[in-house]
Amino acid sequence: MAGLQGKKILFGVSGSIAAYKAAEWVRELVREEAVVTVIMTAAAERFVSSLTFAALSGNPVHLDMFDTDSERIMAHINLSREADAMLIAPATAQTLARLASGIAEDLLATVALAARIPIVVCPAMNSAMLAHPAVQENISRVCRFGYHVVHSTSGSLACGEIGDGRLTDWESTRETLLALFQPDDLCGRQVVITAGPTREPLDPVRFLSNRSSGKMGFALARTARRRGAQVTLITGPVSLANPPGVDVIRVSTAEEMAQAVFGCAPRADVIVKSAAVADFKPIAFSEHKLKKKTQGLQLDLEKNIDILAELGRKRPPRQLLVGFAAESREHASEGRRKLVEKNLDLIVVNDILGPQTGFEVETNQVILIDRKGHVELPLLSKEATAHRIWDAVVTLLPAVSVSPQEYSSGNRDPGCA
Ligand code: PMT
Repeated sequence: MAGLQGKKILFGVSGSIAAYKAAEWVRELVREEAVVTVIMTAAAERFVSSLTFAALSGNPVHLDMFDTDSERIMAHINLSREADAMLIAPATAQTLARLASGIAEDLLATVALAARIPIVVCPAMNSAMLAHPAVQENISRVCRFGYHVVHSTSGSLACGEIGDGRLTDWESTRETLLALFQPDDLCGRQVVITAGPTREPLDPVRFLSNRSSGKMGFALARTARRRGAQVTLITGPVSLANPPGVDVIRVSTAEEMAQAVFGCAPRADVIVKSAAVADFKPIAFSEHKLKKKTQGLQLDLEKNIDILAELGRKRPPRQLLVGFAAESREHASEGRRKLVEKNLDLIVVNDILGPQTGFEVETNQVILIDRKGHVELPLLSKEATAHRIWDAVVTLLPAVSVSPQEYSSGNRDPGCA
């Protein structure tokens, strides 16, 4: 499943100092090969020139309701008909008021009113304005209309104050846009995913670990969220940022991961164990740094708890359990053995010897094995692999009818949850 490539995005910019960030967002969209058409309010043009947006988007910028250019007659209807989604960022108090009351006073508000496409709104303003009940009511109203609000964040504002009202970051907005183009077939499902390595300490500075970067598990978390799931990501030490809209629990050892997983498991509809949990840990932890006085060092290790096997033993009815297997040979037979031994519904077998698969890299090549058979996937990005895993999960999920209203926490809009 592609990202934003080829998507036609109508980008509305209203008059806030944060308009300069919108210019950067247009660049990001174009970099992803989205087709961007910009509409600016008169106030927006006072902050950033329309020339900037025309140059960055590669398309003419629309400013005026009453353009006599024949190609643009009825622009308010045509612009939205030709687009896949509309993004309004920054959305000022003024623009929000127009959107909430249906006041078609300028081109941006008029196009939004005439649109039959999903609309993403990113408010940005001074924190006192944002806190005003009128603005809060307008935000609630546009949520009720079905607009996807990506809320502002706290920090230092251009006016010199510190507080809420800063335009959200591109990553959160991108996630909301991407979710518009995914199926919401995990809506209302509680999904627990593990990622990354564990670290088993030897002394205050050393540990046993492995090469897992967390990329596969984080890709699973991002894509599940986009598909509507309520996601808890339990990760060992990795250098990746928390995916927007995902509850993240950071742990270090296998024991800590086990406690976190067992704490979340009873409520989970699906558990996916993509973490590379250390199989062994040192029996003794040295409180002081081990000295290199002797020629060699003998380490006594003991087995760690097998979290996945334990989950397989205790799983409640209707819970779906997905394991991973990192294999260098006999991939399918090893995968099948683990599927049965650990009482799983699905296992994802990585080839860890291929140059572009398994640990650390951006791509993966896996075999999906369930009780009925197996599918060999081609080399794909980790996000595309994650989508294929969710496609398989969806076909295996027990048919529980879940309506988005019943599970507001499964709503894919952070702003409207
Ligand atoms: O993080 P990346 O750099 O993106 O790399 C991704 C990955 C290669 C780490 C990932 O795709 C992967 O294969 N994860 C599982 C690695 C692994 O530990 O495989 P295993 O065959 O040793 O374990 C089988 C299953 O049991 C796994 O689901 C594992 O999470 C689980 N397990 C293992 C040991 C243990 N003590 N507890 C467990 O729960």
